[in-house]
Amino acid sequence: MQKLKPASRMNAIPFSGIRQIVQQATELEKAGARILHLEIGRPDFDTPQHIKDAATRALDEGQVHYTSNYGIIELREAIAEKLSRENHITVDPATEIIVTVGTNEAVALAMLALINPGDEVLIPDPAWLHYFYCVQLAGGVPVHVPLRAENRFQLDPADLRRALTPRTKMMIVNSPHNPTGAVFTPRLLNELAQVAIAHDLWVLSDEIYEKIIYGDAQHISLASLPGMAQRTITVNGFSKTYSMTGWRLGYVAAPRELTDAMIRVHQYTATSATSFAQFGALAAYRGSQECVRAMVDEFERRRRFLLDALAHIAGFDCVEPQGAFYVFPSIKRLGIDSNALALRLLRQAGVAVVPGSAFGEYGEGYLRLAYSNTYENIVEAVERMARAVRELPPSRES
Ligand SMILES: Cc1ncc(COP(=O)(O)O)c(C=O)c1O
Repeated sequence: MQKLKPASRMNAIPFSGIRQIVQQATELEKAGARILHLEIGRPDFDTPQHIKDAATRALDEGQVHYTSNYGIIELREAIAEKLSRENHITVDPATEIIVTVGTNEAVALAMLALINPGDEVLIPDPAWLHYFYCVQLAGGVPVHVPLRAENRFQLDPADLRRALTPRTKMMIVNSPHNPTGAVFTPRLLNELAQVAIAHDLWVLSDEIYEKIIYGDAQHISLASLPGMAQRTITVNGFSKTYSMTGWRLGYVAAPRELTDAMIRVHQYTATSATSFAQFGALAAYRGSQECVRAMVDEFERRRRFLLDALAHIAGFDCVEPQGAFYVFPSIKRLGIDSNALALRLLRQAGVAVVPGSAFGEYGEGYLRLAYSNTYENIVEAVERMARAVRELPPSRES
């Protein structure tokens, strides 16, 4: 009987911290409560019609079989053209792009194909949790590098250098960033590139929020910087830009030596991404980008409102995010930990948010609010939150 246990590597892999909030929210809803959801990291819009039409057409035309393990060539060509035109990255669509089951799979492929047991991977923390656990599934060691509110959540290269050891093999960069909304400056990206080159590191650049940026923020792809193409694994997807989270489509673009390794993991796991969904993604990249502009404009309207409203809640301090659809206010002045506050907001105010601690050790003291909900719901959620915070017992620190 002792033999029949899950693999010991699973001991280090917990259920997602977001799950606890979602579960409790669901229970409260079942009991009749109206919960306002600011915890879910996905656009609330429908997928644009021309993308749905292309997938439906593909189904009607019998595109129901396995595709090439790499994905349909038409989509890989569209991705390569987009990467060249917008990101200044040159890759061969025949061998250097793999269409994956979400960006999520692209990250997992990179870790399973490139990380040896004991290899260290530098991950700015707080972070999208999957990085930590994909590294661990591969037997690697995630090394947490702090992102600090004092630096507007821009990574401090000195922190990165301090974390380097002879075992460091890869650095992860996610700009625009989940959960802080920070967009790394061109200067910082250049500094990170210098560190990667000097220490011969691979860089995994997760650019899934590249289109969701505001003001004068600028998205730069690390692979386009001098000396970086040969060491950068660029991952991206359709989930956020085109509101296609349920379609499960992403991709990885990297030099051939790396995709040669990654494609073998993909072959023996997902095999290929869903055939007809890939035709939808093709329409997304080939079609008008007006739908993206409209969505980002609406996110910007909500972001402005939320930032102004949070500034009026005593004890909340917010660094203005320049990308993605999250704000990550500090709640440190309230003298309550993030998990306790998130549960209180849920039970008392019916507002679901994610405690910062769910994103890593440096996330404690913050909440993540996703403004991927309607403007009206966001207005109501902030009113309810403000009331619940006013009713908190006085902080021991004040
Ligand atoms: C930074 C980041 N990368 C990747 C993903 C996953 O995207 P996909 O739906 O393409 O798997 C998410 C989703 O929240 C994310 O926040």
